[in-house]
Amino acid sequence: MSQDQIIPFKGDFIAGRWVRSEKSDEEWTVQSPANLKDTVIHMASRFDHVEQAVQSARKAYLPWAHMGLEKRKQYMMRLKEMFASKGSELAEILSRETGKPLWETKTEVAALGSKIDITLNHSIKQITEEEIKDALPGISGFTRHKPRGVMAVVGPFNFPAHLPNGHIIPALVSGNTVVFKPSDKTPVAGQWMAECYEKAEFPEGVFNMIQGRVEVGKRLVNHDQVDGVLFTGSYEVGLKIKQDTMTHHWKVLALEMGGKNASVIWKDAEIKKAVYESLIGSFMTAGQRCSCTSRIILHRDIRDQFVEQFYAAAKKLKIGHWRDEVFMGPLIDQASVEKFIRYQEIAKREGAESLMRGKALDLDHNGYYVTPSINLVKEFDPKSVYQKSEIFGPNVAIFTVDTIEEALEINNSSGFGLVMSIFTKEKALFDKALIEAKVGVLNWNRTTNGASSKLPFGGMNKSGNDRPSGNLAIQYCTVPVASLEDHTPYSPANQPPGLNFENKE
Ligand code: SIN
Repeated sequence: MSQDQIIPFKGDFIAGRWVRSEKSDEEWTVQSPANLKDTVIHMASRFDHVEQAVQSARKAYLPWAHMGLEKRKQYMMRLKEMFASKGSELAEILSRETGKPLWETKTEVAALGSKIDITLNHSIKQITEEEIKDALPGISGFTRHKPRGVMAVVGPFNFPAHLPNGHIIPALVSGNTVVFKPSDKTPVAGQWMAECYEKAEFPEGVFNMIQGRVEVGKRLVNHDQVDGVLFTGSYEVGLKIKQDTMTHHWKVLALEMGGKNASVIWKDAEIKKAVYESLIGSFMTAGQRCSCTSRIILHRDIRDQFVEQFYAAAKKLKIGHWRDEVFMGPLIDQASVEKFIRYQEIAKREGAESLMRGKALDLDHNGYYVTPSINLVKEFDPKSVYQKSEIFGPNVAIFTVDTIEEALEINNSSGFGLVMSIFTKEKALFDKALIEAKVGVLNWNRTTNGASSKLPFGGMNKSGNDRPSGNLAIQYCTVPVASLEDHTPYSPANQPPGLNFENKE
């Protein structure tokens, strides 16, 4: 697909068909953040399509749930083939919509099919039937898992395909139906995904996709026929979903929200590796990952050595258009650039020393490019706005400590709790962090980003609501059902006194 072609908007995918109405409630145009002259797509949305999509998913639910896993697996394998055959097209779409370099979007595409394999071969074990002999004396017990119903999946812009796919696949495998709303910043990825479901000939209504902005998202998550909301995005939006659905007692919420992740580099760490992993963590995806490293906490003994090497390496990062051999693309939009710049000012006002000043970058391609920023924090302050805010850009704050207690205090002070990494040879330090770091992911001698779908992924505090996704997503997509099963005939033995069950008066 040429960079200059506007991608035709197909509408919403509801009950196995593309639905486009003459009149729309909202219209918007997506321009590539990598080149504002590249118009990607003209979009339109209709609020009443939410109702149609939810009803379609509701109607498809029971036949899909009763179909059984073996039959559903066949659909999933066909979907995997579609993901593979249309994958190179998606990598370009993702790069145009997000500005991420092609090498990066190719890894996102590869993750889509892997998620199907991981779910069917690995995650599924968590919901297989389990028999407990003598659950009560002489009586067998069973744990089985059933689907919940209609799941609303609300996706982010930074991984427009991989992150929603991480909710959608386990939801479908376990017998739920889905209404997916892509981010309005990256709608073509959602359109591409719906085309794959169409080509894989899923039964009508099992997978639905509706495009829209805030109002569409709001109507979807608040719909009373929705049984679960599986969300990836910011803390502010996640909190709003929680507030709006507080009285929807039947709904499961899986909220994957932000992060303010720290890498703790200890005095015994291999410095070269720690520098490399910290570069990847801080600046990959231009810092637009909830798992990015936004704080580096250094042991005083290695501080100067680390800072010198990290600064030198950050200066060499190649920034530019996704078609070129670059490490880092642009931010997603103008508002993100302004926020990034605003936080440079806030950092300065709060006393941080700017080692590398982040600024908007004028390139031949007119896009939302910025340079990386590094600030040296002179004094830890748990009230500092800069030190605890998620910036979602290529910004990292460097702290210096003498003790592991100080490092953990800094890590735990932001209010978020997604990932912490620790670089050390000492298992005792890792073990201490395991208990004391308030995070859902604790990496050892490895960067904070780049999660594995074979492991749980989720955070504590403002990073989530204790429903980790990754390989555990299949758990929140299902309801565990306990059954005591007694197939023996009636026996008069062991009846409680006073029951008089067989006493003919
Ligand atoms: C994210 O959730 O933003 C990215 C996770 C990852 O780094 O793999």
